[in-house]
Amino acid sequence: MSVFEGKAWISKQGLVDVSIEVENGYISSVKKTSLEPKKEKAQGLILPAALDMHVHFRDPGYPHKEDWKTGSESAACGGVTAVVDMPNTNPFTSDISSFKDKEQIAKSKSIVDFGIGINVEENLTEQDWFGTVPAAFWKLYPYGISSDDYFRLAKEVLDKTKKPMVVHCEHPDYMYNNPLEKLSDHTENRLVAEEKCLASMPSSEYLHVAHLSTANGLKNLPPLSSTEVCPHHLLLNLDNCSSLDCKVDPPLRNVSDNTSLYDAYRNGKIPILASDHAPHTIEEKKSDTPPSGMPGVETMVPLMLQEVVENRLDLGRLVNSMAEAPATRLGLNRGRIEVGQPADLMFVDLNNTVKIDIDNLHSRSNWSPFEDWNAVFPHKVFRRGELISENSEVVSNSGGINLFD
Ligand code: NCD
Ligand code: ZN
Ligand code: ZN
Repeated sequence: MSVFEGKAWISKQGLVDVSIEVENGYISSVKKTSLEPKKEKAQGLILPAALDMHVHFRDPGYPHKEDWKTGSESAACGGVTAVVDMPNTNPFTSDISSFKDKEQIAKSKSIVDFGIGINVEENLTEQDWFGTVPAAFWKLYPYGISSDDYFRLAKEVLDKTKKPMVVHCEHPDYMYNNPLEKLSDHTENRLVAEEKCLASMPSSEYLHVAHLSTANGLKNLPPLSSTEVCPHHLLLNLDNCSSLDCKVDPPLRNVSDNTSLYDAYRNGKIPILASDHAPHTIEEKKSDTPPSGMPGVETMVPLMLQEVVENRLDLGRLVNSMAEAPATRLGLNRGRIEVGQPADLMFVDLNNTVKIDIDNLHSRSNWSPFEDWNAVFPHKVFRRGELISENSEVVSNSGGINLFD
């Protein structure tokens, strides 16, 4: 048994001095400060660790960009103890064998717990494994598909599914891939793609809208759906991140979009924080035709903790959006410091702001649009009671499990 003591964020109560007992990785008791021997006295605060429901760990297929080892190490050092990986690997995760192959790779290499998303393709709902595969969700992309097929498939899956369907909602008819001279051309090409997509998307409690990026998208959210926002759509815009390496899908916009999204995030209309960690190498990003995407799983929590330090965000709101809300959305009972929950915890010291330094990050992409930004990194991170990272150093080499098994 291990014991964690300190000031912890307890759901519905706030910061409380507690002693947390952990047995076999799960919390067995939470008591207001006790006289137990002090095994793990936290410096600063004890917070639930994050579940990032949107990462691209590129494995199998693109190990030069990332793999389950480097991706999960990056997660762990950023306070993320569970991730859900997207299906656009090579091969795509779109059937039972590619699912099992990826699960095997993740089990052998990942130091954080995980889920896997399966790509929505023709006839998905007729597969004999549709109702049984232990996947986190279905994922629908707007790339290389007609709008008729895109919305038909969306409806077909939403009508039959019992798990969330996550959509990258940019309308296939409104994405113009004209050559780019400057970053704003990319934004211009997709100016209304998000709002048009959302306006045509059927409403369903199973619908989850990935990486919301515009004020107009927010206005057009289907009523029953849930959504997520990424730090880059809250904090970056065409003014403060205007070089071509800031190309990301959906694109960066204006400060006014940041503000609308941030307000909605603050008040819970956008319940979930996710990174859309989409690593590419610096050479790829600096080329004339940079791919879209930026890394983010390691900087998401640290950047938002800094937002708390600067009084732009409430600590309770951050904790809920990064831990409990994504778990609940995926049908998982986790994300709170409470008896019976996995002991996925991090220690953070809100007095310890540092500048983001690429040399201290673990993603193979080896760059970040947030270089030199102020941030608060967790100094210890525990996955099911086990220390997996300390002061941005990895101290574990495997152990991640499929949370949906
Ligand atoms: C993602 C990627 O690189 O896989 N890129 C991105 O710009 N977000 C794909 C995606 O999430 O749409
Ligand atoms: Zn996407
Ligand atoms: Zn993505």
